[in-house]
Amino acid sequence: MTSRTLKIAVVSDLHVFNGSSEDSKSPSTIGTADAQDAPERHPLRGLAQIIERDKLSADLLICPGDLSDKADPAALIFAWRKLNELKEQLGAKYLLATAGNHDVDSRNQYDDHDPKGNLQSLDPMFPGVEEALCDRFWSRNFVIVEFDEVRVVLLNSSAFHGYGPDAKPEFRHGRISSKTLSALRMALAGGEKRINILVCHHHPITHNPVNEEDYSEMVGGDRLIDLLDSGEYGSWLMIHGHKHYPRLAYASGGASSPIIFSAGSLSAFLYQKIASRARNQFYILEIPIGDLDTLELDLAGTLTAWDWINMSGWQPAGAGSGLPHQVGFGWRESARTIATMIAKHLEDKTSVLTGEELLTAIPRLRYLRPEEIEAVVRRLGSSHGIIAQLKDGIICEVGRT
Ligand SMILES: [Fe+2]
Repeated sequence: MTSRTLKIAVVSDLHVFNGSSEDSKSPSTIGTADAQDAPERHPLRGLAQIIERDKLSADLLICPGDLSDKADPAALIFAWRKLNELKEQLGAKYLLATAGNHDVDSRNQYDDHDPKGNLQSLDPMFPGVEEALCDRFWSRNFVIVEFDEVRVVLLNSSAFHGYGPDAKPEFRHGRISSKTLSALRMALAGGEKRINILVCHHHPITHNPVNEEDYSEMVGGDRLIDLLDSGEYGSWLMIHGHKHYPRLAYASGGASSPIIFSAGSLSAFLYQKIASRARNQFYILEIPIGDLDTLELDLAGTLTAWDWINMSGWQPAGAGSGLPHQVGFGWRESARTIATMIAKHLEDKTSVLTGEELLTAIPRLRYLRPEEIEAVVRRLGSSHGIIAQLKDGIICEVGRT
């Protein structure tokens, strides 16, 4: 961590498959047989390029599952090796992952009635921690990793896939069982950290932005959110995959309900309904741990997103990509209050303020989500006669004329 800023790179839902993405029905732009010489054609080669070119780095690399497609063992080994290389490229201390429904051989296609056997055979050990902690992940369905001021829970929301007489319906959704919830509650009582992150594959509550039939959310997810929202175990950021549709939102509940980051897919083929509103994305989150108390914010940060554009490589995320290039999160205040704050600051100003000047005066503006910034801009106009110009989702100019 540099000057107490935690940087987290997120890659989710790679859906690597065993074959070539030249084939028309490939589930992903990453196949084990793909040439890796061109950064504008291979997403992982492309990441290596922008990491070197833009000097990107991270303390943590997080993968919320679906490394492989349909649990193909060769694809799983390939994806895990590539993620470990990415961790080195980013200079990250840990690669922390969890199992997606596509990583577990729930249909017994490849193994001898051992749905998690291929994950357990990976080298380095999955989900990226020392052996005793890996064993705990498999035996308890979660494991806690702690360092400095950070606590990360890796939750296996696919833990029951492939087992029992109800195996078929079970693999259609995630689950946290009552016993896992109880065990997690007891484990969290062991000590609080300033920053708490829970990584799982399935969405904990319904997340249906494109209005499709979807019942795959985590059974018990609402109770998991209640647990994290209780305030007894610190402030939480949840990072999940599975939906392939990026979103940053607050869970319902109290003022410190968890922040939920639904990571878009790094490389899975996006079906039409999603593809018209989102792209494959790569993320780096930054949490300014050292500044949070001064800012009077509980848990806040910024997120930078890149879009994958075949033949152009990774590009700063654009409008209509799911999440824009720069996003903030963590300042939960009404648009009315924030607009009044800005209006007061402008009271004795005769000239237009730049976005940077405004951020210097009110640094918490950096930690608003794009929807909230737009609401503030509307409120500035309707209640105060103030015009604010937006550029790339950020206020770049504000004034009364
Ligand atoms: Fe997926």
